[in-house]
Amino acid sequence: MRCRRCDSKAVINMRQHKLSLCAEHFIAWFQDHVARTIERHHMFSKDDRLLLAVSGGKDSLVLWDILIHLGYNTDGLYINLGINEEISYSDQSAEKCFRYAEKNHLFLHQVNIPQKYGLSIPDAAKKSYRSKNRTCALCGLTKRHVFNEIATKYQYDVLLTGHNLDDEASVLFGNTVNWLGKYLARQSPVLEASSSGFTKKAKPLCRAYERETTAYAIIKGISYFEQECPFAAGATTLSNKVLLNDIEAETPGFKQRFYLSFLKAKEEGLFDPSLSDRNTDFQPCSRCGQPTSNPEVCNFCRTWENILVSRDS
Ligand code: AMP
Ligand code: FES
Ligand code: ZN
Ligand code: ZN
Repeated sequence: MRCRRCDSKAVINMRQHKLSLCAEHFIAWFQDHVARTIERHHMFSKDDRLLLAVSGGKDSLVLWDILIHLGYNTDGLYINLGINEEISYSDQSAEKCFRYAEKNHLFLHQVNIPQKYGLSIPDAAKKSYRSKNRTCALCGLTKRHVFNEIATKYQYDVLLTGHNLDDEASVLFGNTVNWLGKYLARQSPVLEASSSGFTKKAKPLCRAYERETTAYAIIKGISYFEQECPFAAGATTLSNKVLLNDIEAETPGFKQRFYLSFLKAKEEGLFDPSLSDRNTDFQPCSRCGQPTSNPEVCNFCRTWENILVSRDS
């Protein structure tokens, strides 16, 4: 297998792109691929201040590496969820983020949930939800709250996450199987800022296969935390990924076609944008000031207040 660009030995064969490349040309190609996604979806410009949510996993650290290489002004945000039960998942992920930031002289915001709210996510979930899987629901609610809180507090223009094509295709699969119109209308590489106080959000890796981000991390020697969150086991997004990978193995390019055709259909007006919950009326939460469609207190504040009451009673 030879590199399409220079004819030396290829390190990766991307059947979905009918392209084999050597290490040097793969890195250049992948950086350019992400740069084109940013431009194609009008995600942000060099004048914007960007806040990237980094988890310590490969995708967000690879994205940070590419954004810095492309000359974007990007700070990181790591949320320590206090998931240190079966494995020290949070502490080890934190370490990867600190190390990367320190080595590259980058600024990293850190929010420690157990320190800030008095309970780790797994302990808080035990107080508020009955089944183990609901830890992910509380985790998601908390992360979304903190992302927007830090982005607005420090006046970042865009909040970025490391979701890749495999993540997006798997979420799309779940939304389609259940025909969740509201979520299909909302799922997008970019969500514009809202006057009610949501910061603009973007996913610059949404056209990148997970296998490509892994190859980038290995070739560039980016040290990342490899293990999945212990609470993710059994999640439908993971089983959807396995299913889609099986189809991809038979039909190279399937995941890409599935996701990109969805985006095209959206652009052509297949989904009524008014279905998206972004178009609901929002007002500031009376406790935290973040936008909410609830009459007074947002879901995040209400959930955490109930957790703390049940802990103290
Ligand atoms: P996940 O939902 O774990 O697949 O993560 C998707 C994206 O959310 C990651 O690529 C990060 O951008 C962001 N993210 C996940 N966990 C954290 C965390 N603990 N702190 C900051 N960002 C996170
Ligand atoms: Fe949130 Fe696993 S990362 S529950
Ligand atoms: Zn080459
Ligand atoms: Zn609130």
